Amino acid sequence: MRRSGTRGDQMGNARRQRSLAVFPGSFDPITNGHLDIVDRGLRVFDRLRLAILVNPDKKPLFSIEERVSLIRSAYKGNRRVEVDTFSGLLVDYAERVGATVIIRGIRAISDFEYEFQMALMNRRLNPSIETVFMMPAESYSYVSSRLVKEVFQLGGRITDLVPPVVERRLREVYGTPIKTPPAQGRRRTR
Ligand code: PNS
Repeated sequence: MRRSGTRGDQMGNARRQRSLAVFPGSFDPITNGHLDIVDRGLRVFDRLRLAILVNPDKKPLFSIEERVSLIRSAYKGNRRVEVDTFSGLLVDYAERVGATVIIRGIRAISDFEYEFQMALMNRRLNPSIETVFMMPAESYSYVSSRLVKEVFQLGGRITDLVPPVVERRLREVYGTPIKTPPAQGRRRTR
C-alpha cells in the first residue's frame, strides 16, 4: 500500500495543479500565432486562461473589452479556454486563480532574452509558479500583433495571420485597406 505524502503523491498533486495554465499578454489583437500556442497548451494542460494585461501606460488599438470579446469569439464553444483581464503582478494573478504555470510563446531567439528575464523574475517573485515556453509553428514565427496592424493599415494581406473575426474588426476600425500596388518589375507594359 502506498503511504500518503510519497514522492509519487506529490507529483500527482503537482500534475493536478498544473492543469490550469495562464497565457498572459497584451493580445492587441490576438493572432493566429497566439491561437497556435493555445492549441499546444491545451495538449498539455486541462484548461488555459488567456489573461490580458490592463496597462494604463500603453495606448492599445483595441480596448480591453474589445480584446476580451475578440478572444471569446475566436474560442466560442470551447469550454477549456477562458479569457480574463488582470493588473498588477502576473504571478499574484496566477496564484489567485489557482494556476501554477505561465505559458509564453517563443518565436525566435530574439524573444528569448526578454522572456528569460521575465521568467526568472517571476520565479524569484513566486517560486511555486513555473514558466513554460512553447514554440509556435514556423509559419507564425514572424507574426506579431504590431506587424499585423501595420501591414493591414498599409493595405497588406493579413488573412491566415489572424482569426477572421479580428480581420473583420480591423476592417471596421481602419476601413478597407489601401490596395497594394503591383510590384514594379511585374507590371505589364501593355
Ligand atoms: O504580450 P506582451 O505585451 O509581451 O505581454 C507582456 C506581459 C503582460 C506578459 C508582461 O508585461 C507582464 O506579465 N506584466 C504584468 C506585470 C508583471 O508581473 N511584471 C513583472 C514581470 S517580470
